[in-house]
Order: sequence, then C-alpha cells, then structure tokens
Amino acid sequence: MDGNGRWAKSRYHSRIWGHIRGASVVSEIVEEADDLGLNALTLYAFSSENWSRPILEVTTLFNILKKFLKRERTRILRNDIRFKVIGDLKGLPRDTLALIHNLEEETKNAQGLKLTFAFGYSGKNEIVTAVNKFIAANPGKEISEEDLESNLYYPDAGNVDLLIRTGGDQRVSNFLLWQIAYSEFFFTQTKWPDFTDDEFRGILYQVSGRERRFGNVSAPLSYEANVKAAIDNKERVISHEL
Ligand code: FPP
Repeated sequence: MDGNGRWAKSRYHSRIWGHIRGASVVSEIVEEADDLGLNALTLYAFSSENWSRPILEVTTLFNILKKFLKRERTRILRNDIRFKVIGDLKGLPRDTLALIHNLEEETKNAQGLKLTFAFGYSGKNEIVTAVNKFIAANPGKEISEEDLESNLYYPDAGNVDLLIRTGGDQRVSNFLLWQIAYSEFFFTQTKWPDFTDDEFRGILYQVSGRERRFGNVSAPLSYEANVKAAIDNKERVISHEL
C-alpha cells in the first residue's frame, strides 16, 4: 500500500494525513476481495524497516490499526472473515495486541476470506524465524521446503497468486519473499489513497488472463477462471442495477 506520503505531500498535507486517507481505502478493498470470493488478501501495512520513521508517523500507524480493529470487528465476524496479523509485534501497545489476539481467536474457524495484515513484517526475518523454529524442534535434522513452509507465520494462507504494488515503484521491499516465488506482479502508478475497488477488480481481471505455467508448459487456470467469472458476474450485476 505504497504512495501515502507522496499523495499527501502533493496536496500540501503531512504524510500522516496520507496514511489516514489510505486507511479508508483498506476497508473498501477488503470488501471487494470478500465480494469476489478471493481466498486470501494480505496487506503490507508496516514493514520492520518502517520502525526507523519518525515516531509520530509510527504511532499514527499503530493507531490506525487499532481503530480498524475496533471499527471493522463486527463486519469481519458477520462476513466470516478469518483475520490475522503476521510480523514481529514486539513494540505494539498492549491494548492493540489484545485486540489483535481477540479477533484472531474469534475468527480462527472462519471459512471466508483470509484477511492478513503484515505489520512489523520482514520477509527475510520470517524465513529465518521459520528455520530457527524448525531447528529448535528438530535438532540435527535437515530442513525441507515443506518443513520451512509449515513453519512460516501463516502456512494456511498459502502462496501468493498476485502481488499488487501501488505508488509507481517496481520492487518487492521484503514482502512475503518465500510465498511470491511464482506469483504474478502488477505495479500501478496509482498512489494507495487513490486506489479504488474498480481498479482492483480491473487488475484481477487483467491478470486472470495471464497464463501461469509454474515452469511447466501449461497450467490449469481453474482458480483464475473462477476469479474472472466472479468479476464477470459482478459486472453483469452492476450493469443490470444501472
Ligand atoms: C507506504 O507509503 C505505506 C505505509 C508505510 C503504511 C501503509 C498503511 C496504510 C495504508 C494504513 C494501514 C491501515 C491499516 C488498517 C492497518 P509511504 O508512506 O512510504 O508513501 P511514500 O512512498 O509516498 O512516501
């Protein structure tokens, strides 16, 4: 969710204002992902490198997370969304940690969208943590890909089909490094506060037309075909409503 700072600066506002505006987009995109029946949506809200930002910016991002948890709890429960936060949460205020923990517990058996915030997150650190967890439990044993995967923060979320980065930069910035091995990438110039459910749907539509071969000669497109069908169906419903 990149571009909040530049979006705000170009409007002569503080970077913090950009994050606040960006937070309202989060709810819209979560709703769209849920409507489309996506399996999982992971939002990169705060990287471990973001700790070096000015303290006011850091505490604002903490507050945004806390407000989101309070505001969206009912909707998350009603829509059977499974909520999780991944990352190193040391340093988060105790009340925010309690809100996270409670919502994770309340939704752990939910069957709908797997909604994850990466917070205090570093992909490299996730891999190192997984390896160390494995070594501690299996001293002397060689680690396999399956072992590593099952020791990641959230194995059930699976691999990433599509990584979208807003804000115009074309880099990965330490996000889900293991899980993006075969993902598609989409970089948009749109800064996160201007990102809309329409653009999100359009990107999914475009990407669902790409052939993913996973190193093979051809690959089944069943999941992508389902997403495309869901978008098509939604477009039909919208145009019918109009
Ligand atoms: C990067 O933009 C964005 C962040 C560091 C924070 C993103 C967080 C939100 C959109 C709000 C999070 C919402 C919830 C509910 C947790 P940047 O500040 O680096 O922008 P710039 O590249 O233009 O400076």
